[in-house]
Amino acid sequence: MIKRETIQTVYQTANVVDVIQDFIQLKKAGVNYKALSPFTNEKTPSFVVSPQKNIWKCFSTGKGGDSVKFLQEHERLSWPDAIKYLAKKYNITIQYEKSSQQDKEKLDRRERLLHALDFYKSLYEKKLWDTQVNAMPMNYLHNRGFEDQTIKTFGLGYAPKARQEQYDQAIKSGIQEEIVKELGLVYVTEIGQTIDRFRDRIIFPVYSLSGRTSGFGGRIMDSKWGGAKYINSSESEVYQKSHLLYGLFQARQEIRTKDACYIVEGYTDVIKMYQKGIKNVVASAGTALTPQQIRSIGNNTKNVILLFDSDSAGQSAALRSINLILEQGLKVKICALPKGEDPDSFTSKNTLEDVLAYFEAQSDDFIEYKANQLGISETDDPVEKAEVINQIIASIAVIPNFIERDFYIKKTAKTFELDQRNLADALAQQVSKNQRFEKREFAPPALKPVNQPERSEDKGHQSDSLKKSLEELLEDLILYAAKEVEFDEITESTQKGGFILEKQKSKVYKRIEKIFQNENLFYENELDQQLFDLLIRQCHIKGNLDEEFFRLLGSENPNFTSRVSAFQMKYEAYPLSKWDEFNVSVPTIDQGAEIKINDDVLSLKKLLIEQKIIALENQVKQLDKTSKKGAFQSKEGIEILRKIVKYTDIKTLISNKLQRIL
Ligand code: CTP
Ligand code: MN
Repeated sequence: MIKRETIQTVYQTANVVDVIQDFIQLKKAGVNYKALSPFTNEKTPSFVVSPQKNIWKCFSTGKGGDSVKFLQEHERLSWPDAIKYLAKKYNITIQYEKSSQQDKEKLDRRERLLHALDFYKSLYEKKLWDTQVNAMPMNYLHNRGFEDQTIKTFGLGYAPKARQEQYDQAIKSGIQEEIVKELGLVYVTEIGQTIDRFRDRIIFPVYSLSGRTSGFGGRIMDSKWGGAKYINSSESEVYQKSHLLYGLFQARQEIRTKDACYIVEGYTDVIKMYQKGIKNVVASAGTALTPQQIRSIGNNTKNVILLFDSDSAGQSAALRSINLILEQGLKVKICALPKGEDPDSFTSKNTLEDVLAYFEAQSDDFIEYKANQLGISETDDPVEKAEVINQIIASIAVIPNFIERDFYIKKTAKTFELDQRNLADALAQQVSKNQRFEKREFAPPALKPVNQPERSEDKGHQSDSLKKSLEELLEDLILYAAKEVEFDEITESTQKGGFILEKQKSKVYKRIEKIFQNENLFYENELDQQLFDLLIRQCHIKGNLDEEFFRLLGSENPNFTSRVSAFQMKYEAYPLSKWDEFNVSVPTIDQGAEIKINDDVLSLKKLLIEQKIIALENQVKQLDKTSKKGAFQSKEGIEILRKIVKYTDIKTLISNKLQRIL
């Protein structure tokens, strides 16, 4: 368990702009920063970061929060991992609490899987570097040209040959058998023996984006020995092959700096290019490229270069990847290597300058590449030619941005001396075909049954308008807790015998607390209720909610900050002037805020009174049914009627006030 002080130091130190900038490019926009949402495929930036409030908000998805929450959402880190990541980034020493056996068991499953992976990774590294016991693996790597520093950077290791050595050590260190099995690090024979899966192999650990070991690939050292050249650990909660890119953790910074990313096929290709000095390189190791993998590149750069072997498998993989990359809004170039070479062998034989010069000269854009691959110059048959052009148009059609589509259509027309209008027509057809297809893929939302009864408003269920109203008060509490506001209070006028509104000054949090107590109000949503209690408690202690408090809020419950950021960033979605167009008045000026807060309390009162009137009317109906004479003949009935009249008066009073013309 990480000590509370460490957690608080992390929350105090982490700077949201700093943290997010390591993953996505932010552009300054007024006092804030903006970016395209990393969670959707949007074209106009709706991701806003506020350095002042130290929070972020994605207006496309509704996600938001502080630095920790960003790491949880974007990097899918667990809360402790996010804390650890930030501690590392800011050189904060993590202090642990001595954890009891019980705490250990409580460590969630994910953490146990990652712990086991860390354990195996160190074991493999130890075995590789211990050349006294077995020098062969290190010799193998050295003979293939891997330098010591590179071996360390990529955490390469060696899995020993013995049948159970790793398993025995893991169990001895307290790792559970079930965990080792889930990770696919052992298999059980027919006679019930547990055998290590990776034996006598060079180990390539696969890191997550945050640098934790997620899985392994293991290469046999000599193909004479038989068995698959590579084996990989199993998919698990922490290892989803379709999401991870081999090398991205090490390459990310360079991908941003160079604003480009090479994609290669294998582990050794990544490592050798990196060693050569071309560090912006990743591989989809063992699987075909997936949209998720491309998006994780897209968070760092829009420029992708596919480096593929010129054998037919390499070429068809490249062809398959092109549309996938274009679809994600990225630009793609394809570079075929000389016959018989892969990036590993090619970089080993040439100088850095020659390699870069080759990449530069031999990179085709997808139009040239497809045309060459599909053999446009080898045929004079117009039907075959048209087929190639159609293939190119099919690629252009998946590009989300229409300006880019237009650009490529022009280029295609020019390259093949074709009529641009015809191509544009063909493109339009293809685009609309794709759209129809996409629509079919998603089922329409289920229609509401026609005779569905309205949800009852009592019986503990809050109506939507009440929920909305309570939410407004939560916003007021978060934004203006300590503000003094003149509230309109309902008082009975002794002279007129009716009700009037009277101004009474109060702090916002006190007024809100009062109405909650008097009316027995609560938030149906557990998180909101907890947050509300915490805010009120804090106000009692400190008299206000300051920056310091909001900075540490996430250490109480990481979900609080997402909730709070929704309110704190509400008016940052558009520049102020934009709100006018939408007819929304923004309470930025003190006066506006005061009116809003007062109105919120009044609106809530009005809602509560309406509910009371409905309840009274129901009582009347009940009386009508039970008594022979009719409700208003009875004393009880008259009493109810009097109340209804009183509440209706108050309701009218409030309605008039709320409808005032400013
Ligand atoms: N691969 C795999 N399982 C296999 C073969 C390959 O998972 N049985 C994956 C590995 O990630 C490998 C990549 O596909 O790195 C490319 O395979 P290949 O080109 O055959 O291997 P290289 O990376 O060139 O490895 P080496 O240079 O060591 O032969
Ligand atoms: Mn190779």
